[in-house]
Amino acid sequence: MIVAIDGPAGSGKSTVARALAAREGFVYLDTGAMYRAVTLKVLKAQVPVAETAQVAKLAQEAVIEFVPGVPGEAPQVMLDGKDVTAAIRTAQIDQNVSAVASVPAVRQAMVAQQRAVAKNIDIVAEGRDMGTVVFPDAQVKVFLSADAAARAWRRTIEREGGNAAQPGAQVKDQALYESVLKDIQSRDAQDEANAASPLHPAADATLLDSTRMTPQQVVDAIANLVALAQARQAATASDNAAAAQSSVAEKGAPSQPASSQAAPAASGPDASKAKATGAKAPKTKPGQAPMKPFHNTFDDYYDHGMREFPLPARCVFNVAAGLIYGFSRLYWPWDYEGGQQLIDELKERELGTVMVMNHVSMVEPVITVVMFWRQGLRIRPVFKQEFNKNDLMRWVFSRVGGIPVDRGTADLKAVRRCQRALKRGESILIYPEGTRIRDDDGKAPIHGGFALIAQMAKTDVTPSAVIGVRDVTPEGAHIPRPHRVHFKVGAPLKFGALGVKGRKAQLEAMEAKAMDKVFELRAQLRRDYPGEW
Ligand code: DC
Repeated sequence: MIVAIDGPAGSGKSTVARALAAREGFVYLDTGAMYRAVTLKVLKAQVPVAETAQVAKLAQEAVIEFVPGVPGEAPQVMLDGKDVTAAIRTAQIDQNVSAVASVPAVRQAMVAQQRAVAKNIDIVAEGRDMGTVVFPDAQVKVFLSADAAARAWRRTIEREGGNAAQPGAQVKDQALYESVLKDIQSRDAQDEANAASPLHPAADATLLDSTRMTPQQVVDAIANLVALAQARQAATASDNAAAAQSSVAEKGAPSQPASSQAAPAASGPDASKAKATGAKAPKTKPGQAPMKPFHNTFDDYYDHGMREFPLPARCVFNVAAGLIYGFSRLYWPWDYEGGQQLIDELKERELGTVMVMNHVSMVEPVITVVMFWRQGLRIRPVFKQEFNKNDLMRWVFSRVGGIPVDRGTADLKAVRRCQRALKRGESILIYPEGTRIRDDDGKAPIHGGFALIAQMAKTDVTPSAVIGVRDVTPEGAHIPRPHRVHFKVGAPLKFGALGVKGRKAQLEAMEAKAMDKVFELRAQLRRDYPGEW
């Protein structure tokens, strides 16, 4: 996914693009810094800017790299192996960069580098011509503007060491403000007159005027556009997967079991990515009959891999997951710290993991399921058998890969189903508290079955935590409210690293350690987001 953010100097592009990239886990590309780096090279070589052939040669030779630092903050800029982060932000560079950036051959060289960087990755690219020239097919295009006076006001406060986003922030030096305003107005004029790439919004860009918006509001607005684009992409991928599936069927595929035809083409939005990272072929239990297109029993759904579900069920799941994904990103803007690392690991290995989490509302399993789905993976929530008393819930839970457990007994059937799913490469999502806990006093006995499931499947347990969900459905409210939700995922815990011997001792150690870790992660989240539950 490419997010292209264009706009004039001081519109807040950099702050917003960096924050957005950190929030979405995308790479951040500051193309202005690239033109600044070339300008530095030109000035150092003492080549007059009017000598366009020499300037172009220097641009072609320039090796510009970004070293990411703390997410949300500016990366280090390297020119020909040297750190030039500070050197490209001087008044001398400000005065010369527009002229260098208007040399067509310089632009050509930079555009080629920018496209190369963006190949096959999710990126937030910020500049003047991202949506119009460099990435005309970007899925999200934003043109960010603000009054020249507002931009000058922000820049002046920044130069004075303040934070323009803080309420009550004020300019101290009026003369500095006047000179910054003049500078911004003259750069606007130069950027607009840049014959090689004049500054203007792409026809399909969303125009955002940030004059009266805080950076957070701008980031939220663009994140909403990203969520919509992701949902659109997911729906298209699932349509394509379904079309590929039916074309295989029409051509009369060789006499394979139906289950193996299903993979990995119909495996959700990231089918091609999953393929590249070695998505696993579904494994039907030896002697187990493949599912029929219709009229399967609930047990069939619990016993088969989700990729072996019949095509109609998979289509329904993909469309619903796409819609819920988009909806959840808009309504419950969520971040999944550490989630990408886990996903990347799972894509590389055969076995799924047993994810355990604190339980506050129904929102967290829904988000977790669609978060995995979005990445071409599957996670199957274990739910209490009692939900099956409601026919609609029973139907829905079976189609989303849920596995029922009878908590009153040692439900070995459920344990075996989870074990087989893990061996197929599906993960299992378990809430060991068994019931929703909405405050620290509402302690529940921990159901330790998750450790047994992981031990039987010879896999690990991944602790995770969620906060922010209690306010989605506060006490007494029945309709979920929009609220920000935060997840944090720990490193998978391996039995071998627990430091105890014997199956039983290992089980007990895993139960205790995994839950300690869940509550530790929750405590960390609460420290990071005070006041959230
Ligand atoms: O965003 P900035 O102030 O760091 O940009 C520095 C200069 O580079 C600015 O004068 C415009 C130019 N620029 C450009 O021409 N094309 C881009 N994609 C990005 C920046």
